[in-house]
Amino acid sequence: MTTTSGNNSARPGVSVIGLGEMGSALAAAFLDGGHPTTVWNRTPEKADALVAKGARRAESVRDAVAASGLVVVSVKGNAAARDILELAGDALSGQAVVNLTDGTSAEIREVAEWATGQGVGYLHGQIMTIAPGVGQPETVVFYGGSDTVYDRHRSTLGLLGGRGTLVSADAGVPSLYGMAVHGTMWGTLNGFLHAAALLTDEGIEVKHFLEQAGASISALSGIFPMIAGEVDSGEFATPFGALEHHLPSVEDLVKESRARGIDDEFPNYTLGLVAKAVADGHANDSYARLVEHFRKR
Ligand SMILES: NC(=O)c1ccc[n+]([C@@H]2O[C@H](COP(=O)([O-])OP(=O)(O)OC[C@H]3O[C@@H](n4cnc5c(N)ncnc54)[C@H](OP(=O)(O)O)[C@@H]3O)[C@@H](O)[C@H]2O)c1
Repeated sequence: MTTTSGNNSARPGVSVIGLGEMGSALAAAFLDGGHPTTVWNRTPEKADALVAKGARRAESVRDAVAASGLVVVSVKGNAAARDILELAGDALSGQAVVNLTDGTSAEIREVAEWATGQGVGYLHGQIMTIAPGVGQPETVVFYGGSDTVYDRHRSTLGLLGGRGTLVSADAGVPSLYGMAVHGTMWGTLNGFLHAAALLTDEGIEVKHFLEQAGASISALSGIFPMIAGEVDSGEFATPFGALEHHLPSVEDLVKESRARGIDDEFPNYTLGLVAKAVADGHANDSYARLVEHFRKR
């Protein structure tokens, strides 16, 4: 299905299945981008606002899948995503499906394998924003799966976020990219919030601290390429800033926390990792050596 916009460019139709917080934002982005947009949701009333903006309400999943050359799915859980797509029956064959439903790599691969077996051109997408960030130029979306689908629908998918990339031919990989970002975020946030508890215990405003220390904290992101290189190469020897030099600082943080009655579990966990690596003979290695602790044993 195509339409003719004011500037005479034909825009392909898109169907969006699942109109929760995220699916509604995805559908609105396609509508705002001038694409004829068909929507379906289990609870039909959730389509009302989009229909009022110009979307077409599909009466069934089959109708939604058949209506457009690109089908986008965003629901809670990949088991639900597959159950819903199964309702489309043979309308699926030959269609392009982009599933933006979060899950583990195994859950996502299971849907991808099933869909590919139905003759679907399949792409999984991991969107790295909350609903208001959909369509922003800085919004990152990691895609994995069919490069044919990605290339054909690249400009339409670009409406979801300016920084979309195909990271793998394997649909399960984008979720790992997403988890890696989230895991890094939570670790960093836990460290910052522990620091905030320490500062506020002393009566120091965290904002004031940031005014003075913001540059030191921002500089942390500059360390990641070095760590990545060490982990990828397995070479951890370093002339400066080795684990033996981290050890006293982590010990101080734990002691300070304990003395103030602040929860010390988070820094104490770090202390355990550093102390063990030093005891195991890695005192002169970089902090990246600790990756071995997290690997399968
Ligand atoms: N919201 C965010 O900020 C955000 C950010 C990044 C990624 N995501 C991901 O986007 C996906 C959707 O999240 P959301 O926030 O939009 O969720 P949500 O607001 O809770 O909406 C859930 C959607 O899934 C549908 N659904 C759930 N189980 C279903 C089933 N068995 N059969 C049919 N439909 C079913 C719901 O339909 P009903 O309306 O009928 O219940 C609704 O459309 C998730 O994978 C989420 O992790 C969300």
